[in-house]
Amino acid sequence: MDSPVSDPRPLRVALLGAGVVGGAVARLLTEHADDMAARVGAPLEIVGIAVRRAGRDRSDLGVDPSLFTTDADDLVTRADVVVEVIGGIEPARSLILRAMDHGASVVTANKALLAEDGPALYTAAAEKGVDLYYEAAVAGAIPLLRPLRESLAGDEVRKVLGIVNGTTNYVLDKMDTTGAGFSDAVEQAQALGYAEADPTADVEGFDAAAKAAILASLAFHTRVSGTDVYREGITEVSAADVAAAREMDAVVKLLAICERGERGVSVRVHPAMIPRSHPLAGVREAFNAVFVEADAAGELMFYGKGAGGDPTASAVLGDLVAVARHRVGGGLGPGESSYADLPVLTMGDAETRYHISLDVEDRSGVLAQVAAAFADHDVSIETVRQQLVAASDGESARANLIIVTHTATDAALSSTVERLRTLDVVRGVNSVMRVEGS
Ligand code: HSE
Repeated sequence: MDSPVSDPRPLRVALLGAGVVGGAVARLLTEHADDMAARVGAPLEIVGIAVRRAGRDRSDLGVDPSLFTTDADDLVTRADVVVEVIGGIEPARSLILRAMDHGASVVTANKALLAEDGPALYTAAAEKGVDLYYEAAVAGAIPLLRPLRESLAGDEVRKVLGIVNGTTNYVLDKMDTTGAGFSDAVEQAQALGYAEADPTADVEGFDAAAKAAILASLAFHTRVSGTDVYREGITEVSAADVAAAREMDAVVKLLAICERGERGVSVRVHPAMIPRSHPLAGVREAFNAVFVEADAAGELMFYGKGAGGDPTASAVLGDLVAVARHRVGGGLGPGESSYADLPVLTMGDAETRYHISLDVEDRSGVLAQVAAAFADHDVSIETVRQQLVAASDGESARANLIIVTHTATDAALSSTVERLRTLDVVRGVNSVMRVEGS
């Protein structure tokens, strides 16, 4: 093939990590070397691949075995671009900072590090005049951060509502389609390789919370760290909650929600019911999707594979081409944009809606007492539905009350539920679930 490359000085690429993603990056970069060179304007030469342990057979990657090294500290000083796909906080942070110190641009997929210490990485990149790109950190293959950082940089993003964790989406989808309980659905996900042997980071929402912090920081030009994000996982979601959603023609999803309001931004991860008519309701199995609302653009939807070697490598390689082009042609990509510095609200101040299912006595005055609990906390009821429940012999009449509220602060909604739990006429609170997307 004729190459348009006029200055063939190769750009030196150091790869940190040769796991599922690193292996795919090395293999694809080697297989598509000519195309990459043509797109960048210079060949990309892998100068080393840092691994934790030497000696493993990695012939499947098709790269020169002499490139593998356990000396990552040295490797990052010998590169124009460092690609970090080892994950975790250390040694990734030190290696990235050392790479920048030696003048290398960095491409990383490290959501945990960006959520914990993104501003420090941005500051180092700005000081050293290098790029920091991280498209693969959120929603794998889906082009999402570049649209937020660049394509929507002239607009005002109002809301980002996303399914950004494939494992939990798979689990909730199985609960919805088969009626399985949480534990059974997790076991199925583990058997198919969607869930880790220890699924804590996914099912407790840590993974999604780190991604929410990154999305909110970009969307609202405000520093949001992982610890600012309210987080609730899916371990408490029961088959009854999923069935209750089904009755409402809704589905339960673990959502990352980044919302800009009058008083600041709310950033949270929790399970919520969304109507089946909402575009996110149709996101099945382990797929990811992110719904963005912006003032001028209106509603946008991004959909695709959020994990896996090749899909994540696609995002990494896209970043690699972008930063390599800057090396060849000059210039830098966008740095940190945190000028808006909006207040980050606590969960109590977040505005949301609740779906509440109550087991109540079926006699006069019950509805009035229940309604008073809502009114006393200034929570407006949107719909009430009552179903009679067959009482056992000798038991007084019972009913199931299903209440959906209008929007109120989470603090007011949660105080209302606390009050309901204390009422004699309420035998039990069957389920409480936030409602989004309508
Ligand atoms: N464990 C994540 C998921 C993928 O299930 O989506 C990596 O972020």
